Amino acid sequence: MNRECKITVKNEPFPYLIFENVFDQDALNQIDEELQYYFNSFEHFYRHPRETGSAGHTDIPNAMLKRNKGFFFHDVWHNANHSALSRISQEIFYKESISQSESTYFRDFLPNEISILCSLYGDGDYYLPHKDATLATGCLWLYKEPKKWEGGKFRFVDYDLEFECKHNTMVVFPGAFQHEVTELTMDNDDFSDNYGRYCISYFMNHR
Ligand SMILES: [Fe+2]
Repeated sequence: MNRECKITVKNEPFPYLIFENVFDQDALNQIDEELQYYFNSFEHFYRHPRETGSAGHTDIPNAMLKRNKGFFFHDVWHNANHSALSRISQEIFYKESISQSESTYFRDFLPNEISILCSLYGDGDYYLPHKDATLATGCLWLYKEPKKWEGGKFRFVDYDLEFECKHNTMVVFPGAFQHEVTELTMDNDDFSDNYGRYCISYFMNHR
């Protein structure tokens, strides 16, 4: 974990954590390289929303819960350590990072079953309000700067609590709190240059 990482503990209106400057520059460079590798072989890695869980469950018939492209790391890597992103991410789940003593929820939290989803949002993409079947979810936002997209805000819908999704920032929250990603707009040429909005989701549970 980056020594400069700042962790903020919030207990109101519900418990969540904010991590700023999650990774140092060396780690970010390795992650950029890996994300570019996936992007270069887009059709090989990225999947339709119906194949990356939870899409399709809305009150509106035939409506999709999310529109983005993504894949689970466990579908790509037999050994998680073969992915730099996955390997570097392990530090997030160390006691020093995730077990925050000031938190009413994360005080003794130590997940040992984690799955990682890489989601990429381009023009028109969104994720409607939903809950995750997790004890906690971490959403880490990554994108190439300067930022070339608008919208794509992360919101806790029941609390009107909204995040700008700054690069290299992560929010960690109990999955049962409803959240959404508002529709994003961007130029398709910028998307082709890999300026889209990445969210690395860490789904944390106990075995
Ligand atoms: Fe979610």
